[in-house]
Amino acid sequence: MNNTFAQDVLDGLTANNKYLSSKYFYDDNGSRIFQEIMKMPEYYLTDAEFEILSMQSKQIVEALNFSGPFNIIELGAGDGFKTFKLLEFLVSNDVDFYYVPIDISQEAMHILVNRLKERLPDLKIDPQVGDYFEVLKTNRNSAYPSLLLFLGGNIGNYLEEDVEELLGLFHENMKSNDKLLIGFDLKKNPIIIQNAYYDIHGITKRFNLNLLLRINRELDADFKIDDFDFYCHYDPQTGNVKSYIVSLKKQSVNIKSLNKTINFDYNELIWTELSKKYSLDEISNLAKSSKFNLNTNFLDCKHYFTDSLWTKD
Ligand code: AVJ
Repeated sequence: MNNTFAQDVLDGLTANNKYLSSKYFYDDNGSRIFQEIMKMPEYYLTDAEFEILSMQSKQIVEALNFSGPFNIIELGAGDGFKTFKLLEFLVSNDVDFYYVPIDISQEAMHILVNRLKERLPDLKIDPQVGDYFEVLKTNRNSAYPSLLLFLGGNIGNYLEEDVEELLGLFHENMKSNDKLLIGFDLKKNPIIIQNAYYDIHGITKRFNLNLLLRINRELDADFKIDDFDFYCHYDPQTGNVKSYIVSLKKQSVNIKSLNKTINFDYNELIWTELSKKYSLDEISNLAKSSKFNLNTNFLDCKHYFTDSLWTKD
């Protein structure tokens, strides 16, 4: 099979404990639903990071301590909404830099570039559509230092062993004195976290069930989404939010293009997402174990979220 989506769906739904990767949430519909999530008052992450980049751009730029021109490379730029504040600060202070947003979505990149060209006509922008690491590798040859941005709390979606691998790849592809600004959602009152993910509007439920619709469409399957529900749970001791799709009855689903029938028991789960919450201690240990130097944690006023600035020595 040459299609990784199909292969991953097959692996996940034939496993003993069924799972699907949250990276597949973001088709065009899923990306739109995620925009709705970011607008919910309960989903504090977006506001918190927006506040950090709005109020502390000056401090962040000073902490970079770059003496001449530099690159800002954003991994998974998406709609670029929060980064705008940082870019705006730099442009209006005549700082010499290149903005290199990277995203796998051609469409998202197109929208981002057009918006930035309109709102920041003096911005030097070099958009890249494709894989993070291909672009990162070329960055190692750049004559200028780089700031890597990995924002939004996306790191929370990675399992512990995958976090190490990801940070290792960042490290490998950075030059000495390059910086990494990485967003972590922090542990906090569990009720606040629970409400952000198990939302009363049912938007996160739609976000999850959209994955079944995507499988129906792209792999010619016959999931009846009314026969599935959504459940998620925050464990304040581990910091893990785990999200699941729940089968509301014993049922079979046919996935034509995989030539496969999947059986579900009553109340059987598909694990769809991990959204891990960190403590400041865990963040500092993670920086150390991945050979970075933690420079500064930039927190919002409620201490819900941090953009953590790391240096490669
Ligand atoms: C985009 C990965 C940061 O885990 O908080 C939002 C995705 N999932 N609601 C997160 C998400 C459910 C989000 N990230």
